[in-house]
Amino acid sequence: MNISIFGAGYVGLVTGACFAELGHEVVLRDVLEDRIAVLDEGRMPIFEPGLEELVERNRKRMSFTLDVAEAIEGAEFLFIAVGTPPTYSGDADLSAVWTVIDELPRDLDVERPIVVMKSTVPVGTGASVRAALDARGLASVGYVSNPEFLAEGTAIAGFMRPDRIVVGAFEETDGDRVASLYAGLDAPIVRTSVPSAEMVKLASNAFLTTRVSFINEIANVCELVGADVTDVATGVGLDHRLGPHFLRAGLGWGGSCFGKDVSALKQLAGNSGYHFQLLSAVIEVNELQKRRVVAKLQRRLGSLRGKKVALLGLAFKPGTDDMREAPSLVLAGRLLAEGADVTAWDPVADGRVLLHGVEIAGSALDALAGADAAVLVTEWPELRELDWSQAASRMRNRLVVDGRNMLDAAELRKLGFQYEGIGRQVE
Ligand code: UDX
Ligand code: UDX
Repeated sequence: MNISIFGAGYVGLVTGACFAELGHEVVLRDVLEDRIAVLDEGRMPIFEPGLEELVERNRKRMSFTLDVAEAIEGAEFLFIAVGTPPTYSGDADLSAVWTVIDELPRDLDVERPIVVMKSTVPVGTGASVRAALDARGLASVGYVSNPEFLAEGTAIAGFMRPDRIVVGAFEETDGDRVASLYAGLDAPIVRTSVPSAEMVKLASNAFLTTRVSFINEIANVCELVGADVTDVATGVGLDHRLGPHFLRAGLGWGGSCFGKDVSALKQLAGNSGYHFQLLSAVIEVNELQKRRVVAKLQRRLGSLRGKKVALLGLAFKPGTDDMREAPSLVLAGRLLAEGADVTAWDPVADGRVLLHGVEIAGSALDALAGADAAVLVTEWPELRELDWSQAASRMRNRLVVDGRNMLDAAELRKLGFQYEGIGRQVE
């Protein structure tokens, strides 16, 4: 099949490369000249494990363009994967989606092309786009909602071995055609109405964030009552009704999707006349969670003015260079506001653009040199493997706050560190 994808961001690129792997012809269109130039040279504008190799392998079925007409020519499926960032009000900004719709020419050369929405949009967007297409004389263009559930760092496996594929269509036959694009993948296909498909995406992300905020609150109580949240999560997660996933306590969830999607769902509910109380709490818990580390440091070090704090890991999670909504951003801001000197290191994320006033080190050990405290922010495997005895000899004060409960507390204590995790016993 001939597939065009609007938006060569993380979602568009992974989707395009995977569809090419499944044998489809894919054209990716983006508005950023640099992005298209980089892709034409065979390089990737984003870091995603395995993506470059996948694009390379399917190069003959993939092309990249800035030109709308070139993207649309012969396309049977017009996927929309442009960004839908939050506005100040918390609603999703759909201007990039509408630009794509407005750019569609009236005379398309394919009999019934289908617009397929991959970007996460508020419930009701499909109906608005349908009405806009009809009003522009494009009633013969189909519309299908086909949300993505890709998690960064494991996005290719997420596409090729999905838990489910959700297809919401106004016309059954349009839904059949979109479902057929995934032929060969072993996954249940959930066929729904367009609004239900839109809601599946928002509800899934809202539920995942609720689980994380829930376990973070349990962790905070564990600290007060002498329990260990990692053991609690194991015990809770073995209940088949609850399951083990998204029960890792830490210093809060981040990423490009969670914050904006949860806030978009809360806003959508509010705009529709319903106050979504639970989500308000989920968001607030997360905001506070990112800041709790500062209090932990103050309890150990007193005032942070002039104290050197090393942030280990900047990306919102390991396996990506993405720092959008990363807890590291809030943490660095709070520490600087308290007068601390902040150094940071990440194996791939480049903190220089977003972290003003933070010294970026070339290695974890360099970041730790002369530090009064280390905060593990992102659970990169490199940090578990770090030579912590070397770290101990370089630091001015041996204090580790493990924001992801990843390190071996006993081992670190043996090396003379004060160790504090999230929701765990403090010595
Ligand atoms: C995006 C959405 O943010 C998310 O809600 C959705 O689920 C999937 O698509 P992501 O791929 O991470 O996620 O976004 P981003 O990396 O911002 O990529 C969007 C791309 O669209 C960028 O390359 C941007 O240049 C491009 N774009 C944006 C267009 O091609 N046209 C526009 O009008 C605006
Ligand atoms: C998420 C969803 O998983 C995906 O389905 C959706 O399409 C986009 O948003 P992603 O943002 O890539 O994917 O990362 P994810 O692995 O879900 O982690 C999100 C955040 O939650 C990270 O900051 C992570 O550190 C945090 N998290 C996750 C926890 O704090 N504890 C957990 O148990 C799980």
